[in-house]
Amino acid sequence: MKKIEISASILSADFARLGEEVDKVIEAGADRIHIDVMDNHYVPNLTVGPLVCQALKHHGVKVPLDVHLMIQPVDALIPAFAQAGATRITFHPEASLHVERTLQLIRDCGCEAGLALNPATPLSCLDYVLDQLSVILVMSVNPGFGGQHFLPSALKKIKQIRHLISTHRQTVCLEVDGGVKADNVRMIVEAGADTLCVGSAIFGAHDYHQALTKLRESLTALP
Ligand code: DX5
Ligand code: ZN
Repeated sequence: MKKIEISASILSADFARLGEEVDKVIEAGADRIHIDVMDNHYVPNLTVGPLVCQALKHHGVKVPLDVHLMIQPVDALIPAFAQAGATRITFHPEASLHVERTLQLIRDCGCEAGLALNPATPLSCLDYVLDQLSVILVMSVNPGFGGQHFLPSALKKIKQIRHLISTHRQTVCLEVDGGVKADNVRMIVEAGADTLCVGSAIFGAHDYHQALTKLRESLTALP
């Protein structure tokens, strides 16, 4: 079975000690770092910009940096995040007037491109662009905040997207974001996810190593 990757969302980290927090979570076994960018417009919350991505890069973070843009409009900030060291840039199709153009822009900037699907976003947004995607991010909460409860309707969507990916023989990653915890990772992965974005279930724990071990152990029983 393909290794399930865990992307740690820094949204629930202690921002006063961000470099240290990220070092600790990587040391504990996180495969990637997920940076939630919110603009108080597309979503009600307001978080960080390219400076923070660049600061983590300068701090010496070597694992991939996944930038999840919850901003509208999207295009203007893409070159800045690419310059700041983003590996992957994911956006919400509702936030771009020209989805295909935005995907092209991300790739032209040298990054992997992804689409994030809100709980009510239909799969039809993947039509015609599947071959341009490195990742499909299934939101299992409404975007904007960490620490929300996993919406079970995401499971059906994950299964449908996994089917779509195999039908089209694409190599796109299928990531799930929102409310991912040790008690639901198994069903999320069984539904077809290969990447788990986890925020509060790691950063809300006293011991990150223990939290990541618990997540991985909940997966080991899988066939
Ligand atoms: C929500 C963000 C998520 C969030 C996940 O809008 O996209 O990445 O930080 O946090 P948890 O794991 O706490 O739901
Ligand atoms: Zn996110």
